[in-house]
Amino acid sequence: MAGSSVSGGGGGRPPLFATEKPKRVLAYRLYAGTIFAGILLIWFYRATHIPARGSSSLGWRAGLGLLVAELWFGLYWVLTLSVRWNPVRRATFKDRLSERYDDDQLPGVDIFVCTADPALEPPMLVISTVLSVMAYDYPPEKLNIYLSDDAGSAVTFYALHEASEFAKHWIPFCKNYKVEPRSPAAYFAKGATPHDACSPQEFLRMKELYKDLTDRMNSVVHSGKIPEVPECNHRGFSEWNETITSGDHPSVVQILIDRNKRKAVDVDGNALPKLVYMAREKRPQEQHHFKAGSLNALIRVSSVISNSPVILNVDCDMYSNNSESIRDALCFFLDEEQGQDIGFVQYPQNFDNVVHNDSYGNPINVVNELDNPCLDGWGGMCYYGTGCFHRRETLSGQIYSKDYKEDWARGVGIAENADELEETSKSLVTCTYEHNTPWGIEKGVRYGCPLEDVITGLQIQCHGWRSVYYNPARKGFLGKAPTSLGQILVQHKRWSEGFLQMSLSNYSPFLLGHGKIKLGLQMGYSVCGFWALNSFPTFYYVIIPSLCFLSGVSVFPEITSPWCIPFIYVVVASYSWSLMESLQCGDTAVEWWNAQRMWLMRRTTSYLLAAIDTIGGMLGVSESGFELTVKVDESQALERYKKGKMEFGPISGMFVIITTIALFNLVCLVLGLGRVLLRGGAEGLGPLFLQAVLCVAIVVINAPVYEALFIRRDSGGLPYFVTLVSLCFVSSLCLQAI
Ligand SMILES: *[C@@H]1O[C@H](CO)[C@@H](O)[C@H](O)[C@H]1NC(C)=O
Repeated sequence: MAGSSVSGGGGGRPPLFATEKPKRVLAYRLYAGTIFAGILLIWFYRATHIPARGSSSLGWRAGLGLLVAELWFGLYWVLTLSVRWNPVRRATFKDRLSERYDDDQLPGVDIFVCTADPALEPPMLVISTVLSVMAYDYPPEKLNIYLSDDAGSAVTFYALHEASEFAKHWIPFCKNYKVEPRSPAAYFAKGATPHDACSPQEFLRMKELYKDLTDRMNSVVHSGKIPEVPECNHRGFSEWNETITSGDHPSVVQILIDRNKRKAVDVDGNALPKLVYMAREKRPQEQHHFKAGSLNALIRVSSVISNSPVILNVDCDMYSNNSESIRDALCFFLDEEQGQDIGFVQYPQNFDNVVHNDSYGNPINVVNELDNPCLDGWGGMCYYGTGCFHRRETLSGQIYSKDYKEDWARGVGIAENADELEETSKSLVTCTYEHNTPWGIEKGVRYGCPLEDVITGLQIQCHGWRSVYYNPARKGFLGKAPTSLGQILVQHKRWSEGFLQMSLSNYSPFLLGHGKIKLGLQMGYSVCGFWALNSFPTFYYVIIPSLCFLSGVSVFPEITSPWCIPFIYVVVASYSWSLMESLQCGDTAVEWWNAQRMWLMRRTTSYLLAAIDTIGGMLGVSESGFELTVKVDESQALERYKKGKMEFGPISGMFVIITTIALFNLVCLVLGLGRVLLRGGAEGLGPLFLQAVLCVAIVVINAPVYEALFIRRDSGGLPYFVTLVSLCFVSSLCLQAI
């Protein structure tokens, strides 16, 4: 690795992982220095050039507003320095791990998969994820898979039962022929052809088996009836009766594959990993704390059944794309020199359904390749809630100290009777179990905040543990990205609202992390923490300068003035830099451009509503209720996504905002230009030039909105009602200007 410094453990044994610091940071720091100078000049210009109150009241107010907006942008930019300053990259040495540890010396690993709704997360999706993690290249005696089904659905249980049978063929097939990826859905969907080592008959047989499974599951999902075939007369089904609903049922824990039983071997006679189904008790009157509640239930159940020192949790739509990920993660935990204080290892989020030139900025390569390595550089990648390996102890609130010694043999040799284990486990996942216990407060995943995972990760770091970000070239986990504008905006509203609530609470990284984690990391958390607050200045910036343009009030320096230079430099340099970064990280230029559009749309809708709701909530006002609920028509929408058409669709306040901004800027541009040209010819444009450029930029980036308003006739366009409401807003804004 030329041009980078590699550090590893000292001592006698070669390290299990290496950390390198890329060199390009120097260029970034130089660039950042010039931008900072530009920002200072802009601040100075703004503070000294606010028009006198008497001369133009609009100019005076706009000047003050822009001063506040530019102050915020500058300060926020300082925060974002933290996610570029100090990146590190990690590499693992799995061969050294295998040399040093025999299979029977490796620690046990418990894998948690969570699902909550069989309608949104079809059982086939869930079991493909389960099968992909069951087939990890890891000793099966050391592997335990737990599915938490928060809907308590018999169909999901049936699916898991079927998966346990299918696994007996699938796992040996994967291992014998080194199949990748090991999610059958992903493997067969790739249009996989027989693997080199695998005979076509063998391949076809497997494909048939999988098709059988899919057909059977589809008919069960359609009819809602579980077939009464003898082999699935598993006693587990007796847990369900007519009175059970997803929100009201007793706890169910079923060990579907039990290693101590003779039957629990695959078709080659090798052991299978343990497979456990869990649905914690749900009662309408009891709080269940969503995913955090189910993870905590899984932590307790697994502590009785397998109690492995390492826990991996994945969302049910995120399959393992690399059968060696466990070994990679263990390279971090098991390194004798540098591993003792590593609390968790987080993998990046990647998606397998994102098309080329995606319209929604879904490829988050810049975050994965640049932001996250910097958090790691500050000693604390955040916890995403999926694709993450934890030490079990960190989740129990263990505080790191130099004397802490991990018991890697923990859980080995638990060999009780499965019935007893199930009974004990059930009593741990009742509704009342957590009453008056530290669960959700000091123990396990935190309750009471939408971003329970991020806060949990932060608390672990505050307990003295480090966390590591591992981003191998071949991705460890692949999930599903949302593919309609509405879904994305709603998702970002939830996240940005959660982050803002966190930043304004006692869990704020600056308060909680003070003196415990590095300042750079506190700032890194706050980049997302203050996402929502960007909405107000951004909103101001896309409305007010255009409005002033329409009324002929100049708010930026004249094009001939030297004060133009800092404005132009900051904008041109930062956008060029950002384009360069995106290209370097593997995005296309179109994807970068689309991401800029999403940046604007998120800031003016999701973030704005999140900020309003959070502040409203603190003042005791209820939700804005601006949410989207309507689901889009799947197959047509998917076609449009592939063609790169933005999916608007149902009526929503968010779309009204987007449309209003787009239309308003179009009107301002046309009328404003007309006005200038009529009055003084092109020369009159001088003082308004930068505003005209800003207005043009907003219009150009909103091209898909105009298309949806005026040209498209498909069901993914904008409803007339939205257009109408926006037109009302636009006309009243324009009247303001005139
Ligand atoms: C997923 O794994 C396959 C190999 O099985 C690999 O070819 C592919 O590049 C991986 N996907 C990503 C996004 O890394």
